[in-house]
Amino acid sequence: MWFPFHYNDVRGWRDVLGLDLKSTTSDEAAKHFDAAVAQFVLAGADPQYSEGGGFEALQKAIAVDPDFMLAKTLMASFEAQGANVFKDTAVVKKIYDLKSEAEKRPKSSMSDWERSHLKATVALAHNDFLGACRVWEDILVEYPKDILALHLLFFSHITMGRPRGLRDHVYSVVDEYRPNDRYYGNVLGKLCFGLQENLQFEAAERQGKKALEHTPKDVWAIHSMAHVYDESGEARKGIDFLTGNEADWKDNVGLGVHVAWHRGLHHLYLGEFEEGRAIFEASVRPKAVASKFPFPLSDAVAFLLRLEMEGFSIEEDKEAWREIAVAYEDQADSINNVFYDWHALAAFIYGDKEPEAARLRKAVMEQAERYEQDKHEKSYNCKAAFEVGVAMIEALDAYAKKDYDDVVAKLMPIRFDLHGWLGGSHAQKDVIDQLLLRSAIRGGKSRLAQQLLRERRARTIEVERTDGEKSDAIQSRRFLRDIQKPV
Ligand SMILES: [Fe+2]
Repeated sequence: MWFPFHYNDVRGWRDVLGLDLKSTTSDEAAKHFDAAVAQFVLAGADPQYSEGGGFEALQKAIAVDPDFMLAKTLMASFEAQGANVFKDTAVVKKIYDLKSEAEKRPKSSMSDWERSHLKATVALAHNDFLGACRVWEDILVEYPKDILALHLLFFSHITMGRPRGLRDHVYSVVDEYRPNDRYYGNVLGKLCFGLQENLQFEAAERQGKKALEHTPKDVWAIHSMAHVYDESGEARKGIDFLTGNEADWKDNVGLGVHVAWHRGLHHLYLGEFEEGRAIFEASVRPKAVASKFPFPLSDAVAFLLRLEMEGFSIEEDKEAWREIAVAYEDQADSINNVFYDWHALAAFIYGDKEPEAARLRKAVMEQAERYEQDKHEKSYNCKAAFEVGVAMIEALDAYAKKDYDDVVAKLMPIRFDLHGWLGGSHAQKDVIDQLLLRSAIRGGKSRLAQQLLRERRARTIEVERTDGEKSDAIQSRRFLRDIQKPV
């Protein structure tokens, strides 16, 4: 099931979707809002919708009815998620103005459901992702088919890197959806992703295949399957899969670069560096640099770091490092997301922008101090900076100085905490595990390197049991060689 869709008017929101839309009486605005949600959730474009993509649809809904609180709430929610709320006070003010506006409205002109979404957005004004998630969880208890709440909750768990949240919330509502629902395949694709983040690869693959049978063009479901093949060490299968459906993800605005990155990683695992580099140069580097967005830029950085760890010199890729560092210039004062800031720092270090690197280090240290001084600090990122961010930055600095013993000293104590506090998927965070493993190898700690490799293999134990053989693609072939014979 795919675009185009028939979009719901005010009555449709209540009668068809079962959601209590009261803050607009405009059928036109309600339809634009439905078009916005559909295009955000499915990360696709409706060819018959004339206003543009999700953001344009949301803007249109607000333009048609400037009092449409839920539409304004969603816009503010996206803005807060993309902002450093400690510095971008305009976003925070906008959210509190919305809160005041809601309090002044007659009770009957805004439903409890809509007010709950606003409450979650107010939490985001404080970078309080855990608080926002609690509200969305409550919404799903009352409205299990609120795809907006599920979508925002799901992506907040990615922002926080919390595997159980990614699986359990989706599983708790998946049976509410039927094949005639436009989001049926998308929800199964989300479940596939959540399952693989919890290392349940066989179940994840089953759900992913079901998702793609229903919605073959759902780029999130495609991406989830790429994760299944990555995490379970089936790189060749991943390449074949992503080659077969390339037309459905290659030009996707939000995820095209990232899926290409996954495909490139599969090649690196197999030691196919030319193929991996070709994907990086064609589909990751130029698009990431042009976008200047932290998500694709982090993929570009992670890819270059992996090449360095595979034995290619920083000098060899100096031009790319410098180009990416320039693209990051506006983010040198931190975007209040440790995962993304850490990648920006790597670009500044290897792209020869030490003043920007110094500013970014200082900003992350301040976030950690903010939490250290006040344990009631609600910002999830300040907590993450405190728990793992500072050590990650110190480890990266040590790695750049080739002080491999210090990298090991900094990362060993936090390696399991990365999967509790740091945002991003396992595949994204794996670059830090790889940094630890490569540092153990380069530092001559061969017994430790072998032990870390065994730790990595623990995650595919179910696959090994089923297939009767070890899955060597869990670690690149060059790493495996070097672990046997440390350099
Ligand atoms: Fe991914």
